[in-house]
Amino acid sequence: MARTSFLQASSLLSSFLALTNAQASNSATPTKAGWSTTLNGTPTSFRSVFTIPASADVGADLIPNIQDPQAVNAQDLCPGYTASQLQQNDRGLSAVLTLAGKACNVYGNDIEALNLKVEYQSNDRLSINIRPANLDASNSSQWIIPESLIPRPAAESSAADLDLAFAWGNEPSFWFSVTRKSSGDVLFTTEGSHLVYENQFVEFVNSLPEDYNLYGLGERIHGLKLNNNFTATIYAADVGDPIDRNLYGSHPFYLETRYFEAGGHSNKTKRALKASELHQRSFGYEKGSSSGSPYKSVSHGVYYRNLHGMDVVLQPTSLTWRSLGGEIDLFFFAGETQPEVTKQYQTSAIGLPAMQSYWTFGFHQCRWGYRNWTELREIVETMRTFNIPMETIWLDIDYMDQYRDFTLDPVTFSPSGVADFFGWLHGNNQHFVPIVDGAIYIPNPQNASDAYDTYNRGNESGVFLKNPDGSQYIGAVWPGYTVFPDWLSSNGVSWWVKEMVEWYKEVPFSGFWVDMTEVSSFCVGSCGTGNVTLNPVHPPFSLPGEVGNIVFDYPEGFNITNVTEAASASAGDLAVHAVSPNATHANGVQEYDVHNVWGHQIINATYQGLLSVFPGKRPFIIGRSTFAGSGKWAGHWGGDNASKWAYMFFSIPQALSFSLFGIPMFGVDTCGFNGNTDAELCARWMQLSAFFPFYRNHNVLSAIPQEPYRWESVASASRSAMHIRYTLLPYMYTLFHQAHTTGSTVMRALAWEFPNEPQLAAVDTQFLLGPNILVTPVLEPQVDTVNGVFPGIVDGGSWYDWYTGERVNAEAGVNTTISAPLGHIPVFVRGGSVLPTQEPGYTTTESRSNPWGLIVALSDVGEASGSLYVDDGESLEPSETLDISFAAMKSQLKVEVTGGYKDNNTLGNVTILGVKGGCGQVQLNGATIDASKIDYNETSTVLKLSGLDDLTKGGAWQVAWTLSWA
Ligand code: NOJ
Repeated sequence: MARTSFLQASSLLSSFLALTNAQASNSATPTKAGWSTTLNGTPTSFRSVFTIPASADVGADLIPNIQDPQAVNAQDLCPGYTASQLQQNDRGLSAVLTLAGKACNVYGNDIEALNLKVEYQSNDRLSINIRPANLDASNSSQWIIPESLIPRPAAESSAADLDLAFAWGNEPSFWFSVTRKSSGDVLFTTEGSHLVYENQFVEFVNSLPEDYNLYGLGERIHGLKLNNNFTATIYAADVGDPIDRNLYGSHPFYLETRYFEAGGHSNKTKRALKASELHQRSFGYEKGSSSGSPYKSVSHGVYYRNLHGMDVVLQPTSLTWRSLGGEIDLFFFAGETQPEVTKQYQTSAIGLPAMQSYWTFGFHQCRWGYRNWTELREIVETMRTFNIPMETIWLDIDYMDQYRDFTLDPVTFSPSGVADFFGWLHGNNQHFVPIVDGAIYIPNPQNASDAYDTYNRGNESGVFLKNPDGSQYIGAVWPGYTVFPDWLSSNGVSWWVKEMVEWYKEVPFSGFWVDMTEVSSFCVGSCGTGNVTLNPVHPPFSLPGEVGNIVFDYPEGFNITNVTEAASASAGDLAVHAVSPNATHANGVQEYDVHNVWGHQIINATYQGLLSVFPGKRPFIIGRSTFAGSGKWAGHWGGDNASKWAYMFFSIPQALSFSLFGIPMFGVDTCGFNGNTDAELCARWMQLSAFFPFYRNHNVLSAIPQEPYRWESVASASRSAMHIRYTLLPYMYTLFHQAHTTGSTVMRALAWEFPNEPQLAAVDTQFLLGPNILVTPVLEPQVDTVNGVFPGIVDGGSWYDWYTGERVNAEAGVNTTISAPLGHIPVFVRGGSVLPTQEPGYTTTESRSNPWGLIVALSDVGEASGSLYVDDGESLEPSETLDISFAAMKSQLKVEVTGGYKDNNTLGNVTILGVKGGCGQVQLNGATIDASKIDYNETSTVLKLSGLDDLTKGGAWQVAWTLSWA
């Protein structure tokens, strides 16, 4: 059965599209790129060419279904299903679901018969699949995701220990539930609602406890904990960074955490505690108590393996899932803790995150508007002049010849300048990453000089999206009219890989930044059809820096602190949409069905391209549109934020959500993208981002420059935070290796690391880097203190101030006011941890050849542990590695080493925090350390050993050793 024409298919659908359009067109400055520019900024694009009329970019004016009071509620009209023909065994069950009454056909056509298949897949995973019974005949248009595109978790050999049980019933119509066996807790139930299954509309409702703690369902800008009166739309969209709306990526996964009275969870009469109850009880423990939290939490995860556009309607006691098609393919991860849920989700469903090369953890400098090789070199040199570490310089679309992928502007970024620039850059152990866009310029066929080989080769190989009639689908992006690669076509990936390999011969890049991959197009439908003889054309809106758009846009509080930095600015509105749902892929697959994975697929193609360019080396990709599983190939940045304090705050919940989505290589445009930043915001932000895995400063075209050396306060704040970051690179790298091998997270929410403290459930103004570094940043202007909690104290935990090494004197469960003048970011080390460090160099290459160090932060009972992973920093499969473990107790630190990787760096220093009752003789492997190397006085609890290098000649990790200070 052919599918009804997309745009007429259902009002939900049209409204759904309207929602994304409305977001684009209603958005004021920050969303549609609201790109602010200084008057003296250079518009890199202005040409006197045909401008696509603005009307080409305007969609239908419809109210989103979820906001339309007249919209039909499928739950009122649809009959639901009845289950029959049940077959059951110890690994699951199957049944047939048939429509329980007259078809309602509210937003499509009801599907008469469905197959239900439930699998107890493993000891921690249950799956529920509902799909049309007759896929080959009447419902052939129902899109079923091919395994090759998005793998489906398969049943494992045993599920005997699975703590999840499936139940179902037929009253009033078919419903199903998932229960935790050990507690009887119902985790998910559709009881009391109707299953609606139409060819373009699938709805089910799951009830949840009041005040639920739910996280995930991305991508969006929102607090970490999702509130319960809000619709989480999932549909890849290029709309800037509006708050609470669907953005670039699609992650239909949530984590739910329930708090119980400790000891009560296994008792079936106990229920999850509501936030209001917890508040009434003041969290049950007294200020200053360290006698143990009376609570515990239990978490589980749910992944809806469905590519279609979706609304997840969060209401006070339910979630309504509405998808525009496909099958119901649900996976429940039993947990019982957040780390377990995240590991289960990654290892069995979406894949473990890519290991990143060591250099990618250095600082990245970028902006839209670097004008030529000379300016680029000046930026790199000035960073060094100001002694602000910089690892990688990035270029935005400015370098391209008329914005065409795989080209260089012949004048400003002339190929003749390449050898010189890269010889110098690489000679300094620095790197370069270019932007590459999803859209491919289609040349004007009437102008031979407009020929574009990348297009020609792709066209000859049949790799571009088509219209339903078989003609080429032609949208518009920066270069003018463009076509779009079809990653489902048989030659799409190999064509892309070849373009990358060839271009590398011209431009020796180190990684790829893939942008506009939703995939973005600046006009509705195939707007270039019949028009390509006009190419190149101008997009249907003013570009930043073009005449006529002047705004003054600075952060909140700017007028108080930074007036002198003000410069004229202008902004243009961009209508930023996507390739239309009727664009057609190979084998007739419609963009409608696969829209949400275009960005995931270009990441995959780029990964393969980088593997061809750098065989055996780890590809470095930062992608804009991601899907569940993109983390196994790429990192992600938070998109077009604005130079506002609010966006600096939101970067934390954004990053934590991407921890849950298995994409730990995350960071945002530091100092803000849209609009002008100011010194205070930029200083705070450079310090905050220093604790994010991906650390990049990026700016919109012709907003005022915001490299960290532009203001003295920002330069010194950056140096100070970078000193900590580079000191901790071995710790960060070890965390990444753990994430890559086990699915653990790098940036962590306090609630995940301290699951017994219900008051941490929504904390996203502070975060942890791994288990042992607590960051409590200032997130507002004109203050010099910040309030933060010290988690874990109720259970006997402790924290040390990074800067003084002194133990923090804080009380359990209360906010502590912490001094944080501009230039100081509060950072704390967890008692009980050993952190591996290295003396910072200007680049990561230099850091990697400096002496090692250790910070031993003793717990209150004098113990600590930690680990370090070392390899060559770049091989996909290193032949030799080192795993070093540290364990301290009774005034002794024992270091064990396994693995054959040769590292010759000595041990430079060891700092021991929390030394109580004095320090005796300090010995390394029984040999007394000279007093000149020891810094300790009786009034302090910090023992600093330095200048140790000659004691570990040949390398700190050659053999096991013991350090004692009793
Ligand atoms: C949109 C991207 O999100 C932004 O980072 C980039 O600067 C512009 N495209 C221009 O390429």
